[in-house]
Amino acid sequence: MMSDKTQENLYTAFVGEAKAHHRLLAFARKAENEGYEQVAKLFRAVASAEGVHAERHLRLLGEAAVRSTEENLQYSFEQETTVNEMYYPAFIQEAEEEEETAAVVTFKQARDVEERHAALYKRALNAMLREETHDYYVCQVCGYIAEREPADECPVCGARREKFRPVTCA
Ligand code: FE2
Ligand code: FE2
Ligand code: FE2
Repeated sequence: MMSDKTQENLYTAFVGEAKAHHRLLAFARKAENEGYEQVAKLFRAVASAEGVHAERHLRLLGEAAVRSTEENLQYSFEQETTVNEMYYPAFIQEAEEEEETAAVVTFKQARDVEERHAALYKRALNAMLREETHDYYVCQVCGYIAEREPADECPVCGARREKFRPVTCA
């Protein structure tokens, strides 16, 4: 039987990740309409990764406004930073105190992956990726995003290359 606090945190994390998943898909459509093809792909890659987090949290439990693309990138960067610097560290500490080992691993990997997402957004905000055309590959275990080609081994969770799924346009 899972402890109350971790159960509550897993649910909060699920709701946050699920909201991000759907919001990012809307941001991707907006970016596409605005002619930012690569930014649209990035939003889709991160949306897919947040879907991995949402489903993963939910599995362990047993059970957002669209502005301009530049604003959406800024907002998304801030969200990732908040989650990775504030929420996940607190969840990790509480899960550790309650010796919820599986939740500790999930929260830690998500924290590391959100830091990577923030870095991708930060780079996107510079020149809006206008010079780039490449694919993203999302680790279906932890949500880590590789650019251009899948990683042979996921740097966050260690998953093999086959676990990476490409993010294609539309
Ligand atoms: Fe996430
Ligand atoms: Fe993220
Ligand atoms: Fe991974």
